[in-house]
Amino acid sequence: MRTEQPKMIYLKDYQAPEYLIDETHLTFELFDDHSLVHAQLVMRRNPARGSGLPPLVLDGQLLELLSVKLADVDLTSSDYELTPDSLTVQPTSDTFTLDTSVKIHPETNTALEGLYKSSGMFCTQCEAEGFRKITYYLDRPDVMSTFTTTVIANQQDFPILLSNGNLVGSGPGKDGRHWITWQDPFKKPAYLFALVAGDLWCIEDTFTTMTNRKVTLRIYVEQENIDKCQHAMDSLKKSMRWDEEVYGREYDLDIFMIVAVNDFNMGAMENKGLNIFNSSAVLARAETATDAAHQRVEAIVAHEYFHNWSGNRVTCRDWFQLSLKEGFTVFRDAGFSSDMNSATVKRIQDVAYLRTHQFAEDAGPMAHAVRPDSFIEISNFYTLTVYEKGSEVVGMIHTLLGAEGFRKGSDLYFERHDGQAVTCDDFVKAMEDANGVDLTQFKRWYSQAGTPRLAVTESYDPSANTYSLTFRQSAPTTPGQPGDEKKPFVIPVSLGLLDNAGKEIPLRLQGEATASGSSRVISVTEAEQTFTFVDVAEQPLPSLLRGFSAPVKLSFPYNRDQLMFLMQHDTDGFNRWDAGQQLSVQVLQELIAQHQKGKNLVMDQRLVTALGTVLADDSLDQAMVAEMLSLPGEAYLTEISEVADVDAIHAAREFARQQLASSLSDALWKRYQTNRELSKKTAYVAESEHFARRALQNIALSYLMLTGKPEVLAAAIEQFDNADNMTERLTALAVLVNSPFEDEKAKALAVFAENFKENALVMDQWFSVQAGSTLPGGLARVKALMEHPAFTLKNPNKVRALIGAFAGQNLINFHAADGSGYRFLADLVIELNGFNPQIASRQLAPLTRWRKYDSARQALMKGELERIRASGHLSPDVYEVLSKSLA
Ligand code: TRP
Ligand code: ZN
Repeated sequence: MRTEQPKMIYLKDYQAPEYLIDETHLTFELFDDHSLVHAQLVMRRNPARGSGLPPLVLDGQLLELLSVKLADVDLTSSDYELTPDSLTVQPTSDTFTLDTSVKIHPETNTALEGLYKSSGMFCTQCEAEGFRKITYYLDRPDVMSTFTTTVIANQQDFPILLSNGNLVGSGPGKDGRHWITWQDPFKKPAYLFALVAGDLWCIEDTFTTMTNRKVTLRIYVEQENIDKCQHAMDSLKKSMRWDEEVYGREYDLDIFMIVAVNDFNMGAMENKGLNIFNSSAVLARAETATDAAHQRVEAIVAHEYFHNWSGNRVTCRDWFQLSLKEGFTVFRDAGFSSDMNSATVKRIQDVAYLRTHQFAEDAGPMAHAVRPDSFIEISNFYTLTVYEKGSEVVGMIHTLLGAEGFRKGSDLYFERHDGQAVTCDDFVKAMEDANGVDLTQFKRWYSQAGTPRLAVTESYDPSANTYSLTFRQSAPTTPGQPGDEKKPFVIPVSLGLLDNAGKEIPLRLQGEATASGSSRVISVTEAEQTFTFVDVAEQPLPSLLRGFSAPVKLSFPYNRDQLMFLMQHDTDGFNRWDAGQQLSVQVLQELIAQHQKGKNLVMDQRLVTALGTVLADDSLDQAMVAEMLSLPGEAYLTEISEVADVDAIHAAREFARQQLASSLSDALWKRYQTNRELSKKTAYVAESEHFARRALQNIALSYLMLTGKPEVLAAAIEQFDNADNMTERLTALAVLVNSPFEDEKAKALAVFAENFKENALVMDQWFSVQAGSTLPGGLARVKALMEHPAFTLKNPNKVRALIGAFAGQNLINFHAADGSGYRFLADLVIELNGFNPQIASRQLAPLTRWRKYDSARQALMKGELERIRASGHLSPDVYEVLSKSLA
């Protein structure tokens, strides 16, 4: 780790590379106590940078240089310059080869970036700037090269040696070693390089592409997990077919491989032809993975596969353009998931997540535009804004152009830029050119940070039969961007008008000859803008921002009866759910205020009535019913508060849950029993109707448990003991853990741990359930769990399962008024910073939200941030988050 202050890098300083690499030839010699990397780079001067031969500066970190040869001539130390992160040589002609040999230490690499070891196997993670920890290179995405990779290792311990592309040769070596050579004919940036060596098993399948090419598909795992790969394989084949059908995109190599590794900083990585996955994003079977885990596997397999076009064939010019591939690919995987499951439920879940977490990021000290204009450490910018808001931005283009226009645009984008490293502007330009539209103003979504507010008011003129909606948009101040300097966004608002019977009114805007449908999209492009609808015979009720057509905070002065009306009658399923959420927020905020004034809590019974109606409606999709019964979370209630009152939010929400549980207990019990009985009779299937049935059953159980009735306790124990799948078993465990039944709780936890102690991913769930328990004493429980033999800070999944769940989801315990939660997290961040900066920096996020809290908590949180800053030897990752949070 360097000691000088890390530097800020700016988009405006971008320059094309001085040199290019046409071919990369790598040989890896893997040993127990070190590895050797020999690289031969076939290079040339970049003609776009003019003539002359400037020094060649290669990136490299933590490398021990053994030899350098330039144009076949050995260099001595006076011929080159070495710094902790570069090697500089002086080329003497326009084209040349550069040979280097370096020694590295994957066996002690705890940062999980570059080449490292996980559970005895070698693997790589190069995005974003990890390749420079493997060899000296131009480690930037606009340098694209073909790769030939030879891996040499002990045959017995590492029978499987993998890299990108197609296998071109293999053979025995000396001393029980063997070698295998892979060749990737597609030019790619170094961040897509991958290598795996291990004793792995695989399942194999084939896929026949739209042009009848046969592709071999393999999923590699440790032997004990070979029975947990089928769901990922099914998801892969579905993804391949979907990308052909929806985007016309075909796979290009003869083989596609996925490898599961246990120690991984993120979900998965789209390395060309050799995706490397966190095992949590591959392994899934009924007995060990929940429905949510199954859906996550399906989505991540799809996401990484889709990157083959949106990311690999067309890649990013520089890391400021990260959302070019991530926003677009999240949009693509969301489209896939909606087509495979319930589209409305997928949208509800994505929006709830965006509003809770991305909106909070947008309102905090790390707020940045979808295309940031500066950063210190790019690893910090794999954010909800770049991914999820980036996907919303692509989604708005889709909404504005329609499905057909969007497809024309994506076809042109891939055709124009195949094999290139491009920018977000290039993406938008393809969309514009294919459709003959001007998206200049729309592009502000890429450069202006912060969540826009959109305040809507109405006026009805009964004599003229006109109805007007006035939209006022504004943008908040974010770091480096004053709100009043922000220019209006293009905000597509999908809307409809309902009459008194709940029927859609045909929509005709003033000046239009005829009505065009009853649900349509209008574009709000000015700071203030009024739209007037004609032929409106009665005062209507507007349904606004259907499907959440733009990532904004919309407000309209609905009263509670109107929200109940929308919950029942809106033709847009998403807005029916959202009306319920808005109603819940109003009711909860009233309870919060009562709590703050020290009053007895009295809940508006209209919420009970509304949710009772939903619960009684057998015609509704059960997953929708489950979503509608879920009250807005404490994190969301925090996000929408001016100053979040942790205790009042928790008390109000728990009170509302209690009220709903006791008022609706008969209906909940009926739903619970029906579904549990069905579950007993049906074999587990990972399909949306079954997900829906279990979702409703489980939320019913968690409400019912609040009644404390003995028959409910018995039902929870029955479900825990007899369930044939993790979805039911884990919910039963969770309701017991959150209950006052100490004996039953202790027993269930012990039985679960005994049964699953060999399965790390299941134990992660066991840790998470306990970390999330909001009963008093949370911190002590988490500290005790850190001593459990299955826990280790070295494994990112464990850190997320215990520490992440506690600090991110258990708000009442984490925000304990004495600051103990903050102190605990700060201590951990200091420790993590020493061996895994990326994980340290991510775990820091809850402390960066200090502005949301009362002044006493603010002081405590800032105090801990300052203590971390003073702890010395900060990684650039942690340094950047701290300096921005304390600015
Ligand atoms: N490109 C990966 C994805 O979104 C993200 C990723 C995987 C990553 N591993 C990483 C980013 C490590 C930064 C560091 O699919
Ligand atoms: Zn991605």
